[in-house]
Amino acid sequence: MKRATAIAHPNIALSKYWGKCAGAGNFPAVPSLSLTLEGLSTTTRVTFDANEQSDVLSLNGVDAQGEPLVRVSALLDRVRACAKLDLRARVETRNDFPTASGLASSASGFAALALAATRAAGVDWDVFTVSDLARRSSASAARSLFGGLVELPAGAADVCETDLLSARVFDGAPDLAAALRVIVCVTTEGAKPHGSTDAMRATKDRSPYYETWLRVAPRLHDALKNALSLGDFEAAGRFAEESALAMHGCAVAAGFSYFNEATVRAMNAVRALRDQGTNAFFTVDAGPHVKVFVRAPEVARVGAALALVPGVLRTIVCSPGRGARLVTEREGSLEAVEAEAP
Ligand code: PMV
Repeated sequence: MKRATAIAHPNIALSKYWGKCAGAGNFPAVPSLSLTLEGLSTTTRVTFDANEQSDVLSLNGVDAQGEPLVRVSALLDRVRACAKLDLRARVETRNDFPTASGLASSASGFAALALAATRAAGVDWDVFTVSDLARRSSASAARSLFGGLVELPAGAADVCETDLLSARVFDGAPDLAAALRVIVCVTTEGAKPHGSTDAMRATKDRSPYYETWLRVAPRLHDALKNALSLGDFEAAGRFAEESALAMHGCAVAAGFSYFNEATVRAMNAVRALRDQGTNAFFTVDAGPHVKVFVRAPEVARVGAALALVPGVLRTIVCSPGRGARLVTEREGSLEAVEAEAP
């Protein structure tokens, strides 16, 4: 038996990835920049075991079949091919937050799986290569291998099939990066109705604004990076909000709306707070939750206002998080076994 366990945190994009390059490889069509979040975690144990006849996936204690298992096996196949290993695996994964509902559980999930699977198989890749493995399953997962602010470049059309593309830490202004907080407004405990892969494909095929998005997204990304480098929270927040609204506008035109009533109310509450002079900015991913960027001193006031929004079930305050890391399991508790990724 070969076993390893890893922990990874979700990440929330300030400049959004939406859309894939043509061809295989799951390369993002636009660059993105995210913040890895402490406070939400996925823990994944991978055991390559001669007793297993096929790969087995247990997700929050329930055996999973169908698409989730197929995606996990595809990643394991890449690891097996590299390690020349002919064993099936048991994958046991748990999230301490709602799964597949737009809280980036696929990012933390595939980051933890990529790290645990490579180490269990005895493949000693560096963090960039593990990140690239995770990207092939879920592009946003590439970012969760790293802590803090993380940039994932776009793939280039002519190199998509072969070239590796790795996420990397973006330093920005360290004081601003350390002071950033995300207040997650949970608006449902259920799963999201549209998976991001299908929605991205449909957006590309059907949205009249897709070409505009491909032009605008990199500009917003560069402007966001510049604002973060200057430590300008207000400008960074505005660009992050613009990126989210442009992404959702483009997807809505293809028939994919991720918002519910509480999503809209929470976005309006953030706008109202801003009108009263508070620097708070929202983003929304492929699910109905609203994530609000604030600086640490504003957390209590903004959090209290958001908790009162009808339909916001609860709020979770997240600080900048660490990258994915291996852990050992001793008597039911988890301990770090190696230095975390940068
Ligand atoms: O990596 P995926 O396929 O789960 O897509 C993530 C897409 C967004 O969360 C909406 C944006 C992003 O950059 O994380």
